[in-house]
Amino acid sequence: MPVAHRRDFILWMFRNGLITLMKLYMTRRAMTNHERRIAITGGAGFIGSNLLLQLLPKYPSYFFVNVDCLTYAGNLSNLRSIESCDNYTFEKLDIRDRSAVADCFERHRIDSVIHLAAESHVDRSIDGPMLFVQTNVVGTANLLEAALRQRERIGQFRFHHVSTDEVYGSLGDTGYFIETTPYRPNSPYAASKAAADHLVRAYHRTYGLDVVTTNCSNNYGPYQFPEKLIPLVIRNAREGLPLPVYGDGKNVRDWLYVEDHCRALDLVFHRGSAGETYNIGGHNEIANIDLVTLVCNIMDELLGGGPRRDMIEFVADRPGHDRRYAIDASKIEKEPGWMPSVSFEEGIRATVGWYLDNEQWLAECASGEYLKYYDKMYGNR
Ligand SMILES: NC(=O)c1ccc[n+]([C@@H]2O[C@H](COP(=O)([O-])OP(=O)(O)OC[C@H]3O[C@@H](n4cnc5c(N)ncnc54)[C@H](O)[C@@H]3O)[C@@H](O)[C@H]2O)c1
Repeated sequence: MPVAHRRDFILWMFRNGLITLMKLYMTRRAMTNHERRIAITGGAGFIGSNLLLQLLPKYPSYFFVNVDCLTYAGNLSNLRSIESCDNYTFEKLDIRDRSAVADCFERHRIDSVIHLAAESHVDRSIDGPMLFVQTNVVGTANLLEAALRQRERIGQFRFHHVSTDEVYGSLGDTGYFIETTPYRPNSPYAASKAAADHLVRAYHRTYGLDVVTTNCSNNYGPYQFPEKLIPLVIRNAREGLPLPVYGDGKNVRDWLYVEDHCRALDLVFHRGSAGETYNIGGHNEIANIDLVTLVCNIMDELLGGGPRRDMIEFVADRPGHDRRYAIDASKIEKEPGWMPSVSFEEGIRATVGWYLDNEQWLAECASGEYLKYYDKMYGNR
């Protein structure tokens, strides 16, 4: 090689080496400067997206790693507004892969997790329960193991497990679920979540891991995949399709606006006592048929036409369909002190309005178009 070329080559090597070292230094500095480094599993799903959109602007000194393998229910385009934030990154990762989870926690020096990743649809669990066992039970066990290893490395680790009121089974016409209500899950989904809750509890009792568990009632609000009741009804009503309601429509659920759930998660994550569980609910019981009728009435009011409630069709009931869920949330209301801030009237109108204003989002979910978002944004990274 001629001398001039060799000198250019050496200078080029030197400059690139310097840039790499600077980058490493900056990454290292950023890592040590963050007050907390939190993995949010299932961050591309309905509640996870809402949670990240709420927490990121609120805690600029925290670093958030969104851990999600993007099943049909994961939609990264929900997070467009935060994806370029310095304190956010996305890891496409399957929690069923134990070594990938451990590696991710070590690489990002994770010190806490808010665990939402799950298979979450009861009907799908009836069709194929084994995926629910793998994701919801084995996936949670993998995260608990990775949490223990991280605690060994950095001395502390908080594990917040996000669960459901469905673990308690079904209520009659009266009564409420409290934190000590015995577990009686009736669907494979509920049973897999119950199993995960037990594992989380056992890792606290056996290994002293700092855990908190929250059991929440039905959520509603923006970004919910349109296989679930409210967005499904809005989409079908918009398209002139029948509005299916299971059985006699008298099954009662306790509905909570998703942003209120996220505020409760924020509070319990920061102030919940280790080893405790907290029930979260909206004090807002409504029968499925009344809910669907209400959504139809709001749509009639906003769009004209109708009455859309005439499109309701009763269909064969879901096997093992729980009759009534209702939460007594007095524990979390007392300590750490949380109350829902969005009334049902306000929340359901905002929700119907959001889906009507975001028809493209709904259409992309229906067509599968949203699945291309990851490749577009992250495919070449
Ligand atoms: N939606 C509700 O009304 C409700 C109520 C109480 C509790 N919960 C619980 O809250 C959590 C979130 O519920 P949601 O309604 O947002 O669910 P969702 O189905 O909308 O989202 C689940 C997310 O988890 C991801 N995921 C699934 N399997 C994964 C895997 N193996 N590895 C990594 N990521 C995976 C999906 O891609 C998706 O982004 C769940 O644990 C659920 O049990 C939900």
